[in-house]
Amino acid sequence: MLTLARLALTAAVMLLITTACSPPPEEAAPPTAVVELPRIPQPGEFGPASHTYELTGPLVPFTTTMVSAWDLPQDPITDPTLDARDDGELIRRGFRLFRDTPSETPRFTPSGMTCANCHLNSGQRELALPLVGSAGMFPERNGRAGRMFSLEDRIVGCFYRSENAVHGPDNGGLAAARAGVAPVPAADAISEPMLPDVDSEEIVALAAYLRYLSEGYTPGEDPSWRKKNRIPQDSLVPLDALNPARGEEIYTELCVNCHGPDGQGVQVGDKKPGPLWGPLSWNDGAGLARFYTMAGFVRYAMPYLDPGILSDEDAQHVSAFIISKPRPAYPYKHEDWQTDPMPIDAAFYRLGNDSAATPSTPQP
Ligand code: HEC
Ligand code: HEC
Repeated sequence: MLTLARLALTAAVMLLITTACSPPPEEAAPPTAVVELPRIPQPGEFGPASHTYELTGPLVPFTTTMVSAWDLPQDPITDPTLDARDDGELIRRGFRLFRDTPSETPRFTPSGMTCANCHLNSGQRELALPLVGSAGMFPERNGRAGRMFSLEDRIVGCFYRSENAVHGPDNGGLAAARAGVAPVPAADAISEPMLPDVDSEEIVALAAYLRYLSEGYTPGEDPSWRKKNRIPQDSLVPLDALNPARGEEIYTELCVNCHGPDGQGVQVGDKKPGPLWGPLSWNDGAGLARFYTMAGFVRYAMPYLDPGILSDEDAQHVSAFIISKPRPAYPYKHEDWQTDPMPIDAAFYRLGNDSAATPSTPQP
């Protein structure tokens, strides 16, 4: 069942790519085979009968493929208990923000990144940065900032970095880039960004969605599935042995169908990955701009038709390739890692305010 669906999806993806890339045929083309994408579940359909796998605890298992990308074990839109709750609409607002960040809050999202691009199944998928049960772990010490972080502080940090809010919604370069006409804006181009804070309506709503995902969990008790997107210590490839050229080969073989030769993402059904590099991607102060952090995601969550097939080593090379491409610079890097030791793979911090990190560059 899953295998069939996977085949159909592969074919559909190939068809989408072919359709997108080839010029329109001059003469009457032979009839194109109609390939169905997996049927996108409608709200309220997720339940034991709608999928063929068992959940891993509260999560969609990482071994399922992109056919399960639409599954939501906890869906606030259809959860009837929220109708009667005072905070029901706030939670739903947070969920919409999580699932479609650039359109739900353009003022804080100059990038093309949606929270759910990285936290798959809206934070409810195993080994894809799941957030179920996370809210109760805050406040928690944040090593990068060297202080205690509330859940709201953490979400603000995601906006600054993963959503690149620091570059502002009216940045001319970004607006033009979004329209497909401009080159990468200068790395330090900042046009009076509008920055979220812990009281912003969007942050409060997102925190409500994440707290909803943590109802029933004991605060302070670390869920077993949290922070497990890690390459084992003894499989880490030393930075100077990371090979972006090898990574590019893997990218061309296993990633390009959905992420595109330009890394900007291809429409797959109603889903589209966020830009892996370029002006609309996350900035170089984000977690995913670190080699081992990205590899820990890619290793288990991608390629989406066969998650888990990459070796620890290949996950690191392909991540090195993606990180070697240009991306916006986070302008406040000098404020990070003031007290706690800086992780070895925080390449952009070690190389200065570069907008592309190449692992073969000698480390200072
Ligand atoms: C570019 C990828 C990316 C995007 C986009 C992104 N995140 Fe994250 N997020 C991460 C990574 C990586 C971590 C670190 C996870 C770990 O340590 O295992 C993280 C961690 C978190 C945490 C802490 C989880 C915990 O258990 O400690 C929260 C909360 C969070 N993100 C919320 C958000 C929200 C809300 C958004 C959208 C505004 C967002 N993220 C967008 C990559 C991303
Ligand atoms: C079948 C399509 C498909 C393939 C193949 C695929 N991805 Fe993805 N990828 C996605 C989708 C879709 C998302 C966003 C998920 C969502 O929004 O639900 C994603 C998200 C990501 C993200 C999170 C950040 C972003 O920009 O969205 C990274 C990093 C990533 N993929 C890397 C890879 C790598 C590396 C490979 C190859 C080893 C790969 N992917 C292969 C479909 C695919």
